[in-house]
Amino acid sequence: MEIRIKWGVLGTASIAVKHVIPAMLKSKYCEIIGIASRNIKKAKKVAKQFDIPKYYDDYQKLLDDEGIEVVYIPLPNHLHVTWAIKALKSGKHVLVEKPIGLSSLDAQKLLEVSIKHPNLKIMEAFMYKYHPQWVKVKEMINKGAIGDLKTIQSSFSFFENNENSIVNKREFGGGSLMDIGCYPISLSRFLFDAEPKSVMAQIKYDTKFKVDILSSVILDFDHGSSSFFSATQLFENQEVHIFGTKGSIKFEIPFNPPPNKSVKIWLIKDGVKKEYEFEGCDQYTLQADNFSLAILEDHKVSTDLKDAVNNMIIIEKIIESNDQEKRIYL
Ligand SMILES: NC(=O)c1ccc[n+]([C@@H]2O[C@H](COP(=O)([O-])OP(=O)(O)OC[C@H]3O[C@@H](n4cnc5c(N)ncnc54)[C@H](OP(=O)(O)O)[C@@H]3O)[C@@H](O)[C@H]2O)c1
Repeated sequence: MEIRIKWGVLGTASIAVKHVIPAMLKSKYCEIIGIASRNIKKAKKVAKQFDIPKYYDDYQKLLDDEGIEVVYIPLPNHLHVTWAIKALKSGKHVLVEKPIGLSSLDAQKLLEVSIKHPNLKIMEAFMYKYHPQWVKVKEMINKGAIGDLKTIQSSFSFFENNENSIVNKREFGGGSLMDIGCYPISLSRFLFDAEPKSVMAQIKYDTKFKVDILSSVILDFDHGSSSFFSATQLFENQEVHIFGTKGSIKFEIPFNPPPNKSVKIWLIKDGVKKEYEFEGCDQYTLQADNFSLAILEDHKVSTDLKDAVNNMIIIEKIIESNDQEKRIYL
């Protein structure tokens, strides 16, 4: 018999409506039971759009529904920790959007509450890791396909100057580092399987919004380095290029490969460029499968909350490096 985990969603965020809810509906382990919005009309509209049986005009009402086992939290960043804690205290497993919160202290607070609820799973939603291209790249690096991993160059950018966007709201945890710079930080720590020893950065801020709009960063690891920029008022682009002592790996679309289109990576080694192509697949479905299976089979989630705290620490060190105009040691 098929067993599906019963999900609820807090808020009618565009990431939820455009990507994550449709992806969850494709998962054989998920069923979406309820959606909550501050505005009942929005909740009803989204519920109707996706055949979600229950809708609520209050996030807490969804958390009080005993039929819901797990909640997905795609709220603005300043609300992640507050609602994740409320969800845990209401007995729900939690998948919370990246970045985990506003600060490492914030994230640590959530970690401490989660420790008091050992039977509940909680994870930060870094969906990119579930795409087969990243599974393959991690395996290639671990098996020495490019020799010793030495440096990673990445960038992530788009153009958004609408003052109503949460990306441009400082008090909501806006800015390029929080929104997309968190990906190159995450992938660098993931591939090196280590924390940086030091951080150097230069940041440009929007004069009106006071959020970072162009952050240029070097992370120094024991065995190499990672450099990247994140930008929110720049030509839309995403790149990751990984270099080892014997070869390199380049991605076609590292972070948002579309679900219905194949994507490629290239291994360049010994003068030969070898192409690997991955069939279109939905990384948000794979993320939902992964988290639901952790609940169903009661095993550890693939990325624990300590990892989310550590990613947040690096964002803070980057800002410190810019503020103090010097390299910051961890
Ligand atoms: N993993 C990914 O690929 C990905 C991509 C984009 C964004 N994200 C993350 O997902 C989260 C949401 O991003 P988004 O761009 O989808 O946000 P969004 O469209 O602005 O939606 C945020 C939702 O939060 C709710 N909300 C509660 N209090 C709010 C407030 N004071 N102001 C505005 N909205 C409020 C609203 O729902 P109701 O009005 O219905 O209550 C709103 O629809 C962020 O943490 C972001 O970093 C992840």
